[in-house]
Amino acid sequence: MSPRVPSGDAVVTRVTGTLAEARPLRDAGLYDLVRVGPRGLLAEVIRFHQDTATLQVYEETTGLALGAEVAPTGAPLTVELGPGLLGSILDGVGRPLARLAAATGDFIAPGAAAPTLDRTRRWPIVPRVRPGDRVTAGDVIATVEEQPGFEHRVLVPPGVAGELVEVATAACTVDEPLARLADGTELRLAQRWPLRTARPIAERLPSDRPLVTGQRVLDLLFPLAEGGAVAVPGGFGTGKTVIEHGLARHASAEVVVFVGCGERGNEIAEVVQEFPKLVDPRTGRPVMERTVLVVNTSNMPVVAREASVYLGVSIAEYYRDMGYRVAVMVDSLSRWAEALRDIAARLQEMPGEEGYPTYLASRLGQLYERAGRARALGAPARTGSVSLVCAVSPPGGDFSEPVTQASLRVAGALWALDPALARKRQFPAVDWATSYSLHADATAAWLTRESGIDWSATRARVLALLRRDAELREIAGLVGHETLQDPDRATIEIARAVREHLLGQSAYDPIDAACSIAKTGAMAALAVRALDAALGALERGRAIDDLDLAAVRRAYAGVRAAPEDAIAGPVAALERAIAALGGEARS
Ligand SMILES: Nc1ncnc2c1ncn2[C@@H]1O[C@H](COP(=O)(O)OP(=O)(O)OP(=O)(O)O)[C@@H](O)[C@H]1O
Ligand SMILES: [Mg+2]
Repeated sequence: MSPRVPSGDAVVTRVTGTLAEARPLRDAGLYDLVRVGPRGLLAEVIRFHQDTATLQVYEETTGLALGAEVAPTGAPLTVELGPGLLGSILDGVGRPLARLAAATGDFIAPGAAAPTLDRTRRWPIVPRVRPGDRVTAGDVIATVEEQPGFEHRVLVPPGVAGELVEVATAACTVDEPLARLADGTELRLAQRWPLRTARPIAERLPSDRPLVTGQRVLDLLFPLAEGGAVAVPGGFGTGKTVIEHGLARHASAEVVVFVGCGERGNEIAEVVQEFPKLVDPRTGRPVMERTVLVVNTSNMPVVAREASVYLGVSIAEYYRDMGYRVAVMVDSLSRWAEALRDIAARLQEMPGEEGYPTYLASRLGQLYERAGRARALGAPARTGSVSLVCAVSPPGGDFSEPVTQASLRVAGALWALDPALARKRQFPAVDWATSYSLHADATAAWLTRESGIDWSATRARVLALLRRDAELREIAGLVGHETLQDPDRATIEIARAVREHLLGQSAYDPIDAACSIAKTGAMAALAVRALDAALGALERGRAIDDLDLAAVRRAYAGVRAAPEDAIAGPVAALERAIAALGGEARS
């Protein structure tokens, strides 16, 4: 983006915090990016009143003086998309932290410019088209090995079409022309995209396969379809960040974009330090190779948070268009909404509920809408998806607040985190009574195939057991445990094993941290079998004191603790403990 020469001699006429006014600004459009003052601070035009523009400055405005020059760049806030994104750590407006720090030191200087992609790296390319071919938007013109084994597909940008007259075959940098059309248009490895706009697709597609999270409580009870969006509200310390990190490591996505949005500095620092060290257990490769981290640095004003979420989603859409399954984690969407509130307040807009702007819900809806499974534009045919997992931090854990409520209206699933469960150290603290998924039916066939158990029926049985358990424990709390009937006591015992070992999962135990669909399915089916066996034995007249339910629970814990490839022995031991109850129907 080369700054245009300011035609109108626009200068700063007012500065309040990160808002500035400039006049006369004629050479810029709404949401265009401008550079402000001698340091060239990054700012966006967010309002026009005649030739007076209100600017949202994305950097510290200390020292910005009246009369400072304002230079339009001629483009809205865009993200540069191309090879080299995977493995990078970007700030909220797309500057790579490593190269920024190399240029200006650990405390990033305001106005520092660093392009998102490395200009010097030469990428060996494999052309997929020839001179004479006609190409249209979305066609794959070349591929590049972006990371070991990861094929980056170079796409004709939206809105571009024509006949190719030249195609490079040698290695290119992101700035060199890769191909040229008859009308002179040059195609490159990289393209720019206005990040507030959704990238176009050929067609939205339904989704029948889940984003496997590796968390038993989520995959079994509240599955998220690939291309779905889920809200994860939870009060302070209920485990939102642990879930988001776990998904970034273990979810069945080919590309992960993690947006650390305005959370505490130490959490962000942890992400930046931890992620580069993580290894994907399935491939043995560093997790960072398929990850893009977007983080707000602490020296960036609140408003950059607002852009960072769009930046992350735009990158995700770009990989979706290549035909990949992408997952975006946002931690936390509440900080994004607070940034909206901040901006609206400074613009003195009419506040809506709890001070949020009246358009909060519609903005949030537009954001969630960018999740989805789609057939991409162009040839060869590709389908990809963007799944969106948004942590929400309701103040005081009160879900009736506007961000949680607006999320609930548009998300296809809710993983509600419960402080009472977190206090009891029941992690993940997903409240099975209030959480839901609208994707359970659509994903059931896939899960059944993958696990070999009847997923819907098993899921329904486990949910029913948990509901019954909650009722019984409430009754027991009121009138005493000893008043319960034997079948009810057996139900409570089995439900306890389910709560502790099927739904409970430690993020810090290397074996327990992620669980395959096969193991989740096996554990769920075994719980149902144990319940039926215990109730069957009581029906046949055995006394509850003769049933070794403790042995069943111990054996169940053994299955949970077993590594994925050594589960057969512990399963056999559990089956023996279940058979010893003496209530199983003989087939
Ligand atoms: N799956 C888990 N296994 C073990 N411990 C967990 C798990 N999930 C959460 N915890 C515990 O809960 C603590 C708080 O979790 P986390 O930081 O994710 O909460 P949060 O909801 O992001 O909090 P905040 O509102 O402060 O951002 C963790 O430090 C950890 O001790
Ligand atoms: Mg957190």
